[in-house]
Amino acid sequence: MMKATLLFLLGLLLLNGAQASTSSEKKEQNERKIEELISKMTLQEKLGQMSQFDPGQLGRPEEAKQAIRDGKVGSILNLVGAREVNELQKVAVEESRLGIPLVIARDVIHGYRTIMPIPLGLTAGWNAELAEKAMAVAAEEAAAEGIHWTFAPMIDISRDPRWGRIAESSGEDTYLTSVMAKAMIKGFQGDDLSAPNTIAACAKHFVGYGAAEGGRDYNTTLIPEVQLRNDYLPPFQVAADAGVATFMSAFNDLNGVPASGNEFTLKQILRKEWNYNGMVVSDWASITEMIAHGFAANSKEAAEKALKAGIDMEMATSTYVDHVQALLDEGTIDLATIDEYVANILRLKLDLGLFDKPYTDESAAAKSILSEKNLQIAKEAASESFVLLQNKNELLPLSNDLSSVAVIGPLADAPHDQMGTWVFDGKKENTITPLTALKEMLGADQVNFARGLKISRTKTTEGFAEAVEAAKKSDVVLLFLGEESILSGEAHSLANLNLQGAQSELLEAVAETGKPVVLVIMAGRQLTIQKELAKADAVLYAWHPGTMGGPALADMLFGKTTPSGKLPVTFPKTVGQIPIYYNHKNTGRPADYQQWTDINKIPAEATQHSLGNTSHYLDAGFEPLFPFGFGLSYTTFEYSDLKLSSKTMGKDGAIEVSVNLKNTGKFEGAEVVQLYIR
Ligand code: BGC
Repeated sequence: MMKATLLFLLGLLLLNGAQASTSSEKKEQNERKIEELISKMTLQEKLGQMSQFDPGQLGRPEEAKQAIRDGKVGSILNLVGAREVNELQKVAVEESRLGIPLVIARDVIHGYRTIMPIPLGLTAGWNAELAEKAMAVAAEEAAAEGIHWTFAPMIDISRDPRWGRIAESSGEDTYLTSVMAKAMIKGFQGDDLSAPNTIAACAKHFVGYGAAEGGRDYNTTLIPEVQLRNDYLPPFQVAADAGVATFMSAFNDLNGVPASGNEFTLKQILRKEWNYNGMVVSDWASITEMIAHGFAANSKEAAEKALKAGIDMEMATSTYVDHVQALLDEGTIDLATIDEYVANILRLKLDLGLFDKPYTDESAAAKSILSEKNLQIAKEAASESFVLLQNKNELLPLSNDLSSVAVIGPLADAPHDQMGTWVFDGKKENTITPLTALKEMLGADQVNFARGLKISRTKTTEGFAEAVEAAKKSDVVLLFLGEESILSGEAHSLANLNLQGAQSELLEAVAETGKPVVLVIMAGRQLTIQKELAKADAVLYAWHPGTMGGPALADMLFGKTTPSGKLPVTFPKTVGQIPIYYNHKNTGRPADYQQWTDINKIPAEATQHSLGNTSHYLDAGFEPLFPFGFGLSYTTFEYSDLKLSSKTMGKDGAIEVSVNLKNTGKFEGAEVVQLYIR
């Protein structure tokens, strides 16, 4: 494979990032207000602004209210409900000395109540416009429940499917991630942060978190500066340029320096090189974790390092509150630094319009949550996220004339798991599963359902007989396998990426009936499914598709929609190939089939150099199971008339590439045109 860079996605509509434009007058007014407030604030009030806590950390409701009244809390995360938020906001605004409103934060990662596909799935749609719409839905619903700020998008380049957080990411590619980052930020923030249906976004985790060694969460990262700048930083720079309101510093140490105390990334790059003037929050307890990293001797030193690196707001711990006075007294830090950080926080609150309109309209949620429009966008987003990996004998789409289908598998009717990781507010009662949708579409009598396995990790095969029975009496088998939502996400790394439990055996058992098998996989990451490809006729990768996954799948299986998703990550054949991603370097000895001998064909006592010396694995070759960008369709496309505007780059470094694209197949369809350069 060549060192290639994904250059251009035709068919991705990038909206011109018209930035939230606060008029310069308003800006000046805000700056004056900030100055005035800071001049009145005690140190305790300043440190309060710099502190974010979970309600659970603030004690009983009365204690929480007192802390807010005393100006000890600037932000709360994980408080939901317009009424609940208003109740505490009232204390901040009407009972605290300076009346500074709280900013309420929440992880609204891929939807609030209407759950969109996991970000990795959303990215598989390669549709920036749709990603923007999906996040606008998330923002609207969250804002209606009192949330002002989400900790998303997560834009860590993720090249290791063992890492559970790959689910939250846009995958392995810097360009695709950057395009999605910009779109998602626009979706959350809109053009005006103070509008009632927008919320502040947060570019996270700054930076390098996705390079966790061995894919084990929180693990150390070693990224040479050249790679940091080429691969890991660009999406964050795009986010900064797009006006993302906040950044979050990561948990990991980067080349030995924890990200939350890293002056090089936070000060030199983010503030100086990029001129970023938004607000920076630490990840949960990542300031005190610098002690465990071995980077700070105690919490006072941790506070000092975080302050020197430029963390404005501390999440979930209190090192600032506990130690800033002493650090000031010693002259380790100065008050001007504290004032600058407080100003960044107050600016966010002003931009959000919280001083003018601190309260949430308590009737808004009823109108927006799970609205028809929102569900429709969730269905579209799910539909575009599906990637058709295999379609032997054009089994898909299925004909409407089938007399019955078997719906089998632990993910066929798993409303909780189908939502995926990082769903704090989505409810399984609102999820429509494939089983429900297929019954609705075909009529309950035509669907023969058997779960086969209780959950994805079930090892006992006692449900197989019923599954085989269901398969036997049906024309076709729709088998829903994959992983439960708990198997991906934060701290949920895996060393083995094969299907869990007895799922492979279930596939074998139903395939033995001789009935055609459509395998639908719902998962938070790419799994190693080489063995399963051989047993199934068609394979559709559905990630964790969210609230509307069921109807979107039913439509696609029966040809009401055509798959157009493309993989945002490379699928390895086996875990041992990881890291494997499309734009790895060529090496001086790139692999080719002439110089590769399958391990099973190596003669006994072969001599040292008889197999050729290229960069490959004897047992797994050098190709992935599916490359990045792969995805089949029901229809076919013809590319013709490829043209370059010039054979050389113009002075502006630009060259225009055009191609004619024609749908030559039997179905309507969309195609993502991809261009790679080396
Ligand atoms: C995660 C962040 C998240 C934060 C707040 C941390 O554990 O790493 O991504 O935003 O918690 O919930």
